[in-house]
Amino acid sequence: MFRDNILKGKTIIVTGGGTGLGKSMSERFSELGANVVITSRKPEVIEKTAHEITEKTGNTVLAVRADVRKPFENENVLEEAIKKFGQVDVLLNNAAGNFISPTERLSYKAFDTIVDIVLKGTYNFTLAAGKYWIKNKIAGTVLNIVTTYASTGSGFVVPSAIAKAGVLNLTRSLASEWGKYNIRLNAVAPGPFPTKGAWDRLFPGADFEKKLINKIPLKRVGEHIELANLATYLISDFSAYITGEVVTIDGGEWLGGAGEFNWLEVIKPEQWDEIQKTIKEKNRKK
Ligand code: HXC
Ligand code: NAP
Repeated sequence: MFRDNILKGKTIIVTGGGTGLGKSMSERFSELGANVVITSRKPEVIEKTAHEITEKTGNTVLAVRADVRKPFENENVLEEAIKKFGQVDVLLNNAAGNFISPTERLSYKAFDTIVDIVLKGTYNFTLAAGKYWIKNKIAGTVLNIVTTYASTGSGFVVPSAIAKAGVLNLTRSLASEWGKYNIRLNAVAPGPFPTKGAWDRLFPGADFEKKLINKIPLKRVGEHIELANLATYLISDFSAYITGEVVTIDGGEWLGGAGEFNWLEVIKPEQWDEIQKTIKEKNRKK
């Protein structure tokens, strides 16, 4: 889809870049020529991923440990990235925490833990990057990974839903405020993309996945490369006039769940014969 090296010269920080979707996006950026910096709480995980990606793409990947909830640790990632590559151009806020639970079973700490990683982590890192870009007159770009329920809301993942909604609002608010500095902020709202992190916490049984696929109009989950290509476009110069936008990539899942009559999909062709006969009879002019 993309010319080789379209990201050459760009330095991209990916939070939560050691695993799952963050790892897949990091690999794609590196393959396309970027300097990638991955960060998360587990040094052994990010170091292993950095090594693996460099082996595959031949481009340097820097791993710097940080907990996104801690502003000074994020600032340190920025400093290390600048030291290594000279400048930082893109911040991909991808790190998250989540699990399913009836809300009334959550402790205060459980609520705080998710909101702190997702919302506080994102605004902490965005603030650090924004200050650096404004001070140095760099046209930076932020891409935030949200979810479709950032807009619709969702039961059973309420801390994540409210935090992702905050991240979406941050995206739109700062796109307006920082446009004058040539800083762009966009978001991607993925539907289900299999990762160990998400599946172990959100779909803990084979039955869960079957139910999930059934409600997706395209009848499949997403492929990592599909998300990675969309992210590449949104952080690249090809999307230079797009800011404050959220792009959904979910196989039609949320619309499928929202449309009033979409549930009629369960009705078989022979049942439609009967239904249409009944409707015509009811509407026959007396
Ligand atoms: C209820 C839970 C819980 C669960 C933890 N807690 N897991 N409560 N149900 N399943 C509670 C704990 O009891 C504790 O509260 C508090 O949350 C903090 O838990 P810790 O384990 O101490 O926290 P920590 O070690 O910081 O781990 C954070 C974590 C963990 C979020 C709980 O799961 C994690 O590290 N996750 C990172 C990766 C991740 O979540 N990936 C999935 C993203 S998927 P008490 O009061 O007992 O001390 C995603 C996709 C959405 O976002 C869309 C899909 C379609
Ligand atoms: P994942 O592999 O579990 O990724 C989450 C990452 O966040 C991990 O690498 C984790 O690393 C990091 N992280 C968690 N807490 C952190 C903290 N305090 N500081 C720094 N890093 C932290 O799950 P994923 O499925 O790839 O999710 C990636 C993103 O996609 C998330 O924003 C998620 O909400 C979003 N998303 C996923 C799906 C899906 O179906 N998979 C759908 C919609 C949206 P450490 O544990 O090492 O810190």
